[in-house]
Parts: sequence; structure tokens; C-alpha cells
Amino acid sequence: MRLTFVTSNPGKVEEARKYFKPLGVEVHQLHIEYPEIQADTLEEVAEYGLEWLAERFEGPFFLDDSGLFIEALNGFPGVYSAYVYKTLGIGGILKLLKGEANRRAHFRSVVAYWDGEVHLFTGKVEGMITEEPRGAGGFGFDPVFMPDGFDRTFAEMTTEEKNRISHRGRALKAFAEWLKENLK
Ligand code: IMP
Repeated sequence: MRLTFVTSNPGKVEEARKYFKPLGVEVHQLHIEYPEIQADTLEEVAEYGLEWLAERFEGPFFLDDSGLFIEALNGFPGVYSAYVYKTLGIGGILKLLKGEANRRAHFRSVVAYWDGEVHLFTGKVEGMITEEPRGAGGFGFDPVFMPDGFDRTFAEMTTEEKNRISHRGRALKAFAEWLKENLK
């Protein structure tokens, strides 16, 4: 089986490819920019993007909308994570948290699949924002996110390790289980 992943993020593609490979599913990247609306939830952003694409391109395909939610910042950057990463970057987030004792945060991911209708799959991982960036793997905020139960950041893990516990890995797992049930 072959799945089309609409994204311009090579880090997300790498994770989806590594996730699906042992299941015998090949992931093909479709590099199309779609509008990411301003909304309160990742679900709304994902669904709007998916429907926008469905009006213009032949499915099936999927996309992923994710975000980092920092407790001390009332969930910021959340749905604005991509923009904040581009503008403030990791350094900006560390500055905002300087002197802050509560460094709890979580990542959420919404995988949205179009096959004539919308199917949403979600995943979440809890953790902490480190004081300093660590590690060279992954992408985005990975160097400052340490998942609960580990003393390494996502950037210090292999893609397979990250997939086993990450927000995206969990959303992909729900997606894979749905595919198994529904594509018999
Ligand atoms: P979007 O899903 O394209 O809207 O982008 C979400 C943004 O959140 C990305 O640009 C990253 O900065 C960040 N992000 C999402 N998932 C991850 C992850 O697995 N690791 C690190 N940063 C992430």
C-alpha cells in the first residue's frame, strides 16, 4: 500500500516513513502548500486544510497539524507553533520561560486523512521544556522537549524511539489501526 502525505516538512515525512515501513506501507510526499487558518484548535486547522486540498486534488491523502502547548504560557504557542518557531525560534521560547519553575508542556498532533470524507486521528505526549537545547536529531522544538520518563530530549532520540512515544507516533498508530480495520 502507498499513502500520500501532503506536507512541506521533511521531518514529519521521515517520521511517517519510519512508522509505516515495518507495516509494509510506503509513504509518498506531496509537496503542496495549503492554507493554515487561524483557529482555536488543531482539529479545525487540519480539517480546513484537508477540505481545501480535497477540492483541488485527487485523494486519498493525509496531512498532520501539530503544536507545542506550554503550561506556564497558557498553552502558547499551540496552534501558532509553526509561526512562533519561524519568528521566535527555540531561543525565543527559552527566553519566555527564563526563571519559570513550571516547565511542563505537551505536544499534540492531528493526522487528517481524506478518502472522500474526513477522518481525524490524534496523539499527545507530556513532558518538559529543558533549560538548554540538547541533541541534533529531529526537527522544530525537539531539542528542548524532554518527554516524561526520559532524560533525553526528542532530538537525542532516534526517529524510531521518538515515534514510539511521540504525539505524531501515537496519531499515526491510531491512523494505522483504522486503516487496518477499514481497508480489509
Ligand atoms: P504545523 O503542524 O505545520 O502547523 O507545524 C507545527 C510546528 O510545531 C512545527 O513547525 C514545529 O515547530 C512544531 N512541531 C510539531 N511537531 C513537532 C515535533 O514532533 N517536534 C518538534 N517540533 C514540532
